[in-house]
Amino acid sequence: MGFETKSNKRNKEHCQLTKGKHTNSNSFPNTTATISANSSLRTSRRRNRKMAMTPVQRLFETCKGVFSSGGPGIVPSPESIDKLRVILDDFKPGDVGLTPNMPYFSPTIGRRTPAITYLHLYECDQFSIGIFCLPPSGVLPLHNHPGMTVFSKLLFGTLHIKSYDWVADAPCVPAMTNSEGKQPDFRLAKLKVDSDFTAPCNTSILYPSDGGNLHCFTAVTQCAVLDVLGPPYSDPDGRHCMYYYDFPYTKFSVNGLSVPEEEEEGYAWLQEREKPEDLAVVGALYRGPPIVEK
Ligand SMILES: [Fe+2]
Repeated sequence: MGFETKSNKRNKEHCQLTKGKHTNSNSFPNTTATISANSSLRTSRRRNRKMAMTPVQRLFETCKGVFSSGGPGIVPSPESIDKLRVILDDFKPGDVGLTPNMPYFSPTIGRRTPAITYLHLYECDQFSIGIFCLPPSGVLPLHNHPGMTVFSKLLFGTLHIKSYDWVADAPCVPAMTNSEGKQPDFRLAKLKVDSDFTAPCNTSILYPSDGGNLHCFTAVTQCAVLDVLGPPYSDPDGRHCMYYYDFPYTKFSVNGLSVPEEEEEGYAWLQEREKPEDLAVVGALYRGPPIVEK
Protein backbone atom coordinates (compact mmCIF):
# COMPACT_ATOMS: atom_id res chain seq x y z
CA MET A 1 0.00 0.00 0.00
CA GLY A 2 1.40 3.46 -0.93
CA PHE A 3 0.36 5.22 2.21
CA GLU A 4 3.22 7.38 3.50
CA THR A 5 3.19 8.12 7.22
CA LYS A 6 5.32 10.84 8.84
CA SER A 7 7.40 8.21 10.46
CA ASN A 8 8.05 6.40 7.15
CA LYS A 9 9.13 9.68 5.60
CA ARG A 10 11.54 10.32 8.45
CA ASN A 11 13.00 6.87 7.99
CA LYS A 12 13.42 7.41 4.26
CA GLU A 13 15.22 10.69 4.86
CA HIS A 14 17.42 9.01 7.41
CA CYS A 15 18.22 6.26 4.94
CA GLN A 16 19.08 8.73 2.22
CA LEU A 17 21.20 10.73 4.61
CA THR A 18 23.03 7.65 5.76
CA LYS A 19 23.61 6.57 2.17
CA GLY A 20 24.91 10.04 1.35
CA LYS A 21 27.28 9.93 4.29
CA HIS A 22 28.85 6.70 3.13
CA THR A 23 29.27 7.80 -0.47
CA ASN A 24 30.58 11.28 0.30
CA SER A 25 34.29 10.59 0.59
CA ASN A 26 35.12 14.29 0.79
CA SER A 27 33.39 14.68 4.10
CA PHE A 28 36.18 14.94 6.70
CA PRO A 29 34.46 13.31 9.70
CA ASN A 30 33.28 10.39 7.56
CA THR A 31 36.79 9.80 6.12
CA THR A 32 38.08 9.54 9.64
CA ALA A 33 35.41 7.01 10.42
CA THR A 34 36.35 5.00 7.31
CA ILE A 35 40.08 5.06 8.14
CA SER A 36 39.35 4.06 11.67
CA ALA A 37 37.13 1.19 10.48
CA ASN A 38 39.76 0.02 7.97
CA SER A 39 42.50 0.23 10.52
CA SER A 40 40.61 -1.83 13.06
CA LEU A 41 39.80 -4.32 10.29
CA ARG A 42 43.49 -4.59 9.45
CA THR A 43 44.39 -5.00 13.13
CA SER A 44 41.74 -7.65 13.52
CA ARG A 45 42.97 -9.45 10.37
CA ARG A 46 46.55 -9.30 11.67
CA ARG A 47 45.40 -10.65 15.03
CA ASN A 48 43.46 -13.43 13.32
CA ARG A 49 46.45 -14.31 11.13
CA LYS A 50 48.65 -14.45 14.23
CA MET A 51 46.10 -16.54 16.06
CA ALA A 52 45.70 -18.78 13.05
CA MET A 53 49.45 -19.33 12.59
CA THR A 54 50.22 -23.00 13.16
CA PRO A 55 53.03 -23.96 15.59
CA VAL A 56 55.15 -25.23 12.70
CA GLN A 57 54.71 -21.96 10.79
CA ARG A 58 55.62 -20.03 13.95
CA LEU A 59 58.71 -22.22 14.29
CA PHE A 60 59.67 -21.47 10.69
CA GLU A 61 59.14 -17.71 11.04
CA THR A 62 61.19 -17.70 14.26
CA CYS A 63 64.02 -19.70 12.63
CA LYS A 64 64.13 -17.15 9.80
CA GLY A 65 64.79 -14.40 12.31
CA VAL A 66 67.11 -16.37 14.58
CA PHE A 67 69.41 -17.63 11.80
CA SER A 68 69.13 -14.65 9.41
CA SER A 69 72.67 -13.46 10.13
CA GLY A 70 74.03 -16.90 10.99
CA GLY A 71 76.81 -18.96 9.49
CA PRO A 72 79.26 -21.70 10.39
CA GLY A 73 80.51 -21.22 13.96
CA ILE A 74 78.19 -18.27 14.57
CA VAL A 75 75.99 -18.83 17.61
CA PRO A 76 72.72 -16.85 17.67
CA SER A 77 72.32 -14.31 20.49
CA PRO A 78 71.05 -15.60 23.88
CA GLU A 79 67.74 -13.76 23.24
CA SER A 80 67.31 -15.53 19.89
CA ILE A 81 68.20 -18.91 21.40
CA ASP A 82 65.56 -18.36 24.09
CA LYS A 83 62.93 -17.34 21.53
CA LEU A 84 63.39 -20.59 19.63
CA ARG A 85 63.75 -22.68 22.78
CA VAL A 86 60.40 -21.43 24.12
CA ILE A 87 58.62 -22.39 20.90
CA LEU A 88 60.22 -25.84 20.79
CA ASP A 89 59.70 -26.55 24.51
CA ASP A 90 55.99 -26.25 23.82
CA PHE A 91 55.96 -28.35 20.66
CA LYS A 92 53.66 -31.41 20.55
CA PRO A 93 53.67 -34.41 18.20
CA GLY A 94 50.28 -33.30 16.84
CA ASP A 95 51.82 -29.96 15.78
CA VAL A 96 53.64 -31.88 13.03
CA GLY A 97 50.90 -34.47 12.49
CA LEU A 98 52.66 -37.36 14.25
CA THR A 99 51.36 -40.15 16.46
CA PRO A 100 53.38 -43.08 17.87
CA ASN A 101 51.21 -45.62 16.03
CA MET A 102 52.41 -44.47 12.59
CA PRO A 103 54.35 -47.06 10.53
CA TYR A 104 57.62 -45.05 10.82
CA PHE A 105 57.86 -46.13 14.45
CA SER A 106 57.29 -49.86 13.96
CA PRO A 107 60.27 -52.20 14.29
CA THR A 108 61.70 -53.09 10.85
CA ILE A 109 61.20 -56.78 10.17
CA GLY A 110 64.34 -58.59 9.04
CA ARG A 111 66.79 -55.86 10.02
CA ARG A 112 69.21 -56.10 12.91
CA THR A 113 69.18 -52.31 13.32
CA PRO A 114 65.76 -50.72 12.76
CA ALA A 115 65.54 -48.26 9.88
CA ILE A 116 65.09 -44.62 10.87
CA THR A 117 62.80 -42.32 8.91
CA TYR A 118 63.68 -38.70 8.23
CA LEU A 119 60.85 -36.28 7.50
CA HIS A 120 62.22 -33.22 5.77
CA LEU A 121 60.28 -30.05 6.57
CA TYR A 122 62.49 -27.25 5.29
CA GLU A 123 66.04 -26.34 4.33
CA CYS A 124 67.76 -23.15 3.19
CA ASP A 125 71.39 -21.96 3.45
CA GLN A 126 70.82 -20.69 7.00
CA PHE A 127 68.88 -23.52 8.68
CA SER A 128 67.03 -26.79 8.28
CA ILE A 129 64.06 -28.36 10.04
CA GLY A 130 63.42 -32.11 10.06
CA ILE A 131 62.14 -34.97 12.19
CA PHE A 132 63.86 -38.28 12.95
CA CYS A 133 61.39 -41.10 13.57
CA LEU A 134 63.05 -43.93 15.50
CA PRO A 135 61.48 -47.34 16.19
CA PRO A 136 62.46 -48.96 19.51
CA SER A 137 66.23 -49.75 19.51
CA GLY A 138 66.81 -47.43 16.56
CA VAL A 139 70.26 -45.80 16.75
CA LEU A 140 71.64 -42.62 15.24
CA PRO A 141 75.34 -43.39 15.76
CA LEU A 142 77.83 -40.93 17.24
CA HIS A 143 78.17 -38.04 14.79
CA ASN A 144 79.27 -34.41 14.74
CA HIS A 145 77.67 -31.06 13.88
CA PRO A 146 80.53 -28.92 12.54
CA GLY A 147 80.12 -25.20 13.26
CA MET A 148 76.43 -25.65 14.02
CA THR A 149 73.92 -24.73 16.69
CA VAL A 150 71.38 -27.55 16.96
CA PHE A 151 68.03 -27.65 18.74
CA SER A 152 66.62 -31.14 19.37
CA LYS A 153 63.12 -31.55 20.76
CA LEU A 154 61.95 -35.02 21.78
CA LEU A 155 58.28 -35.06 20.77
CA PHE A 156 57.44 -38.43 22.33
CA GLY A 157 59.11 -41.54 23.67
CA THR A 158 62.22 -42.25 25.73
CA LEU A 159 65.58 -41.54 24.14
CA HIS A 160 69.07 -42.20 25.43
CA ILE A 161 71.44 -39.37 24.52
CA LYS A 162 75.20 -39.73 24.83
CA SER A 163 77.14 -36.66 23.84
CA TYR A 164 80.70 -35.31 23.88
CA ASP A 165 82.65 -32.12 23.24
CA TRP A 166 86.20 -32.05 21.98
CA VAL A 167 88.79 -31.25 24.63
CA ALA A 168 90.54 -28.11 23.42
CA ASP A 169 94.26 -28.54 22.69
CA ALA A 170 94.23 -32.17 23.88
CA PRO A 171 96.82 -34.42 22.32
CA CYS A 172 95.83 -36.98 19.72
CA VAL A 173 96.95 -40.58 19.78
CA PRO A 174 98.11 -41.77 16.37
CA ALA A 175 96.37 -44.90 15.17
CA MET A 176 98.19 -47.94 13.78
CA THR A 177 98.44 -48.35 10.07
CA ASN A 178 96.70 -51.54 9.02
CA SER A 179 96.05 -53.34 5.74
CA GLU A 180 93.61 -50.58 4.81
CA GLY A 181 96.26 -47.89 5.31
CA LYS A 182 96.65 -45.13 7.86
CA GLN A 183 93.72 -45.05 10.28
CA PRO A 184 92.35 -41.80 11.78
CA ASP A 185 93.93 -40.63 15.05
CA PHE A 186 92.19 -40.92 18.42
CA ARG A 187 91.17 -37.57 19.85
CA LEU A 188 90.22 -36.82 23.43
CA ALA A 189 86.65 -35.75 24.16
CA LYS A 190 84.77 -34.90 27.33
CA LEU A 191 81.49 -36.64 28.08
CA LYS A 192 78.67 -34.12 28.31
CA VAL A 193 75.48 -36.18 28.62
CA ASP A 194 74.80 -39.89 29.10
CA SER A 195 71.15 -40.16 30.13
CA ASP A 196 67.64 -41.20 29.21
CA PHE A 197 65.19 -38.44 28.32
CA THR A 198 61.44 -39.01 28.35
CA ALA A 199 58.97 -36.66 26.65
CA PRO A 200 57.64 -34.19 27.55
CA CYS A 201 61.05 -32.65 28.27
CA ASN A 202 62.86 -29.46 27.43
CA THR A 203 64.72 -28.84 24.20
CA SER A 204 68.38 -29.94 24.05
CA ILE A 205 70.69 -27.37 22.50
CA LEU A 206 74.24 -27.97 21.32
CA TYR A 207 76.75 -25.42 20.06
CA PRO A 208 79.82 -25.50 17.76
CA SER A 209 82.25 -26.18 20.61
CA ASP A 210 80.12 -27.13 23.63
CA GLY A 211 76.80 -28.47 24.80
CA GLY A 212 77.61 -31.93 23.40
CA ASN A 213 78.41 -31.19 19.74
CA LEU A 214 78.95 -34.90 19.04
CA HIS A 215 76.04 -37.12 19.97
CA CYS A 216 74.51 -40.54 19.67
CA PHE A 217 70.74 -41.18 19.94
CA THR A 218 69.42 -44.58 21.00
CA ALA A 219 65.66 -45.08 21.09
CA VAL A 220 64.61 -46.84 24.30
CA THR A 221 61.01 -46.76 23.05
CA GLN A 222 59.67 -45.44 19.75
CA CYS A 223 60.72 -41.78 19.50
CA ALA A 224 60.26 -38.69 17.37
CA VAL A 225 62.96 -35.99 17.49
CA LEU A 226 62.43 -32.60 15.87
CA ASP A 227 65.80 -31.16 14.82
CA VAL A 228 66.62 -27.57 13.87
CA LEU A 229 70.15 -27.10 12.51
CA GLY A 230 71.76 -23.73 11.88
CA PRO A 231 73.50 -23.83 9.48
CA PRO A 232 72.67 -27.23 7.95
CA TYR A 233 75.24 -29.82 6.80
CA SER A 234 76.75 -28.90 3.46
CA ASP A 235 79.29 -31.07 1.67
CA PRO A 236 80.27 -28.32 -0.83
CA ASP A 237 80.99 -26.00 2.13
CA GLY A 238 82.95 -28.68 4.01
CA ARG A 239 80.34 -29.29 6.72
CA HIS A 240 80.23 -33.07 6.44
CA CYS A 241 78.47 -35.39 8.84
CA MET A 242 81.27 -37.51 10.31
CA TYR A 243 80.81 -40.65 12.40
CA TYR A 244 82.95 -41.77 15.34
CA TYR A 245 83.82 -44.74 17.54
CA ASP A 246 84.25 -43.97 21.22
CA PHE A 247 86.76 -45.77 23.45
CA PRO A 248 87.31 -45.54 27.21
CA TYR A 249 89.85 -43.03 28.45
CA THR A 250 91.88 -45.89 29.94
CA LYS A 251 92.57 -47.34 26.47
CA PHE A 252 95.67 -45.14 26.17
CA SER A 253 98.10 -43.53 28.52
CA VAL A 254 99.61 -40.37 27.16
CA ASN A 255 102.72 -38.69 28.57
CA GLY A 256 101.83 -35.40 30.24
CA LEU A 257 98.09 -36.11 30.20
CA SER A 258 96.49 -37.06 33.47
CA VAL A 259 92.91 -37.12 34.69
CA PRO A 260 91.96 -37.96 38.31
CA GLU A 261 90.83 -41.60 38.48
CA GLU A 262 87.31 -40.70 39.59
CA GLU A 263 86.93 -38.47 36.51
CA GLU A 264 88.23 -40.94 33.92
CA GLU A 265 84.72 -42.03 33.01
CA GLY A 266 84.02 -38.44 32.01
CA TYR A 267 86.44 -38.69 29.07
CA ALA A 268 86.74 -40.84 25.97
CA TRP A 269 88.90 -41.24 22.87
CA LEU A 270 86.99 -40.69 19.64
CA GLN A 271 88.11 -42.04 16.30
CA GLU A 272 86.55 -41.08 12.99
CA ARG A 273 84.93 -43.97 11.12
CA GLU A 274 83.08 -44.64 7.91
CA LYS A 275 79.29 -44.25 7.97
CA PRO A 276 78.12 -47.46 9.69
CA GLU A 277 77.00 -50.04 7.13
CA ASP A 278 73.92 -51.01 9.11
CA LEU A 279 72.69 -47.41 9.43
CA ALA A 280 69.56 -46.91 7.35
CA VAL A 281 67.98 -43.46 7.32
CA VAL A 282 65.10 -43.38 4.89
CA GLY A 283 63.51 -40.15 3.69
CA ALA A 284 59.72 -39.86 3.74
CA LEU A 285 57.26 -37.16 2.79
CA TYR A 286 56.24 -34.86 5.62
CA ARG A 287 52.44 -34.80 5.74
CA GLY A 288 51.84 -32.53 8.74
CA PRO A 289 50.69 -28.89 8.69
CA PRO A 290 52.62 -27.14 5.89
CA ILE A 291 55.28 -24.47 6.12
CA VAL A 292 54.33 -21.59 3.86
CA GLU A 293 57.07 -19.33 2.51
CA LYS A 294 55.80 -15.78 2.07
FE1 LIG B 1 72.61 -34.98 15.36
